[in-house]
Amino acid sequence: MPTTPSPPESRSAVRTLLRLWPYVRPVRARLFSAAFIAILASCIGLVIPLVLKWMVDGPIADRDPAGVWLGALYLLLLGLAEALLFGFRRWLVARPLSHVEAEMRADLYRRLQRLPVAFHDRWPSGQLLSRATTDLMLLRMFLAFPLTFLLVNGVTILVGVIIMLVQDWALGLVILVPAVPVLITCVVFEKRYSGAARRAQDQVGDLTTVVEESVLGIRIIKGFGRHRSQAMAFRKLSGDLRGTELHKARLLATILGVIVTLPELAIGAALVLGAVQVADGSLSAGTLVAFLSTALALRWPVDSIGFLLAMSQEAATATERYFEVMDAEPESPAPGPRPAADGGGRPRDGEGGLVFHSVGFRYPDAPEGSAPVLHGIDLHIRPGESLALVGATGSGKTTLTALVPRLHEVTEGRITLDGTDITAMSLEELRSRVAVAFEEPTLFSATVGENVLMGGGTGEEDLARALAVAQADFAHALPRGTDTQVGEQGLSLSGGQRQRLALARAVVGRPDFLVLDDPLSALDVHTEAAVEAALRRVLADTTALIVAHRPSTVLLADRVALLSGGRITAVGTHHELLRGNPEYAHLMSGAPAGEQEDQR
Ligand SMILES: Nc1ncnc2c1ncn2[C@@H]1O[C@H](COP(=O)(O)OP(=O)(O)OP(=O)(O)O)[C@@H](O)[C@H]1O
Ligand SMILES: [Mg+2]
Repeated sequence: MPTTPSPPESRSAVRTLLRLWPYVRPVRARLFSAAFIAILASCIGLVIPLVLKWMVDGPIADRDPAGVWLGALYLLLLGLAEALLFGFRRWLVARPLSHVEAEMRADLYRRLQRLPVAFHDRWPSGQLLSRATTDLMLLRMFLAFPLTFLLVNGVTILVGVIIMLVQDWALGLVILVPAVPVLITCVVFEKRYSGAARRAQDQVGDLTTVVEESVLGIRIIKGFGRHRSQAMAFRKLSGDLRGTELHKARLLATILGVIVTLPELAIGAALVLGAVQVADGSLSAGTLVAFLSTALALRWPVDSIGFLLAMSQEAATATERYFEVMDAEPESPAPGPRPAADGGGRPRDGEGGLVFHSVGFRYPDAPEGSAPVLHGIDLHIRPGESLALVGATGSGKTTLTALVPRLHEVTEGRITLDGTDITAMSLEELRSRVAVAFEEPTLFSATVGENVLMGGGTGEEDLARALAVAQADFAHALPRGTDTQVGEQGLSLSGGQRQRLALARAVVGRPDFLVLDDPLSALDVHTEAAVEAALRRVLADTTALIVAHRPSTVLLADRVALLSGGRITAVGTHHELLRGNPEYAHLMSGAPAGEQEDQR
């Protein structure tokens, strides 16, 4: 079940939203002009009641039709100006705000690429996906509306109240009475809504994870007839989300109730009082009309505060979620601090090849007190040598291979390449010297050629050579040869075909060091033999670490190391270990291919 990785820390919404400033900065001029225009438009709206007052006390009282027409014309022009200005504002902000959204999304994507594997192990992909989509959309909406309108409406309310107080201060005070309870409600609402908003957005992330997993795992779901239970899991999560959304709606309804009702009552009271004063003759009818239409003009700015606050709160939550990812520590592409500490230059210990010096490793999320996956690993793979790594399933072979290109950082000891500590190289240099092929051959939505050339190499020649080594010549027979699209949106390849392309990707750049995690597991015996024959030529001048389950793969290597209980318990040739190490003999004899191999 997907979980939310980090608990929300409590920070005020304003402080959280201020973190958006670096992104908003480049468009600040437009945003401020837009806000200014909106304030102008809004204040033009407040002039309308004053024209009404002039009409009621002037032309209407004097029964002057021409004056009434003139007033109507003024009203029309004012209305038109207000509409045009608001339209202009929208035009002004639309482009820069979509730019802000795009920038933030690009930054998030860049960051996701640079975050270490340990981060991705910990975070459900749906949580990341929802941050890149829903949360960023909420932020754009916040910048477009609440940010401007909280300011605009605030100014409008202030100006409106001043106008009303000037018209008649006693009636103005009546209108102001609800201000205090409304403010208190807003503060209480903010607090409550913030929790609900965070919950809802996290639940959207969980839901996204489930959808993503069921799309990726559709074969398994169908194969096991699990669509019903999968649908139930989805229903449960979407039910939870619905519950949270309803809770949000109830909170919003409460604040709207207060924000709409109290001022409405105040307006009613002011109307009664004003009518009495007009009857007494102590107030002109025009003033009352102006007063009430100002009050009515302020209704939208006041009513909208509820959902503007709600949207701001959601935006604050979205910002918080966004920066949870952006604040995560990325892999540092530059050399690490350790070797730099002991003087200038890179420490060299004279040993060539790939060397593990008392390496230990535990996963960052491993439970307290559990034994580390690897400890005290000492291995020396000499230059040009290839070493097979054998061990029971779950013994830590994949983990060990991941340490070489620093997909995970060793927690003890160190690894050197030709005498240089891998933490003393930049990640770029390290990863260009070490090529890897993993257990699960991943292909991207691109052509066969592009997928292979991701591993380095420059052109057709390298590509053809790599395909030949990996016995992936089937690629030339694809509908469009090596230009055929594969991956999720392209042609589906078989497991063995994908594995051979992944192998081609590993060897295409002629790396100095090759790390292969069980690279031939999905191949039939004959293809395997052909790949091995070709691979042997590559391995002749490459230092290689090859995880192997089958004797046929082991025989590719010069020596074998046995990984057991997190340690290397034996190193030797295949035949030495087969004779002298019962655990190794047991591991190797279990595989059917092993028997064939031994009979050879
Ligand atoms: N990301 C991870 N976080 C925590 N523990 C992990 C992680 N990946 C693997 N492990 C644990 O580390 C141990 C070694 O796993 P690893 O994948 O290295 O085994 P392996 O030798 O490659 O097995 P196999 O032969 O099945 O591929 C296992 O007990 C596994 O549960
Ligand atoms: Mg493995």
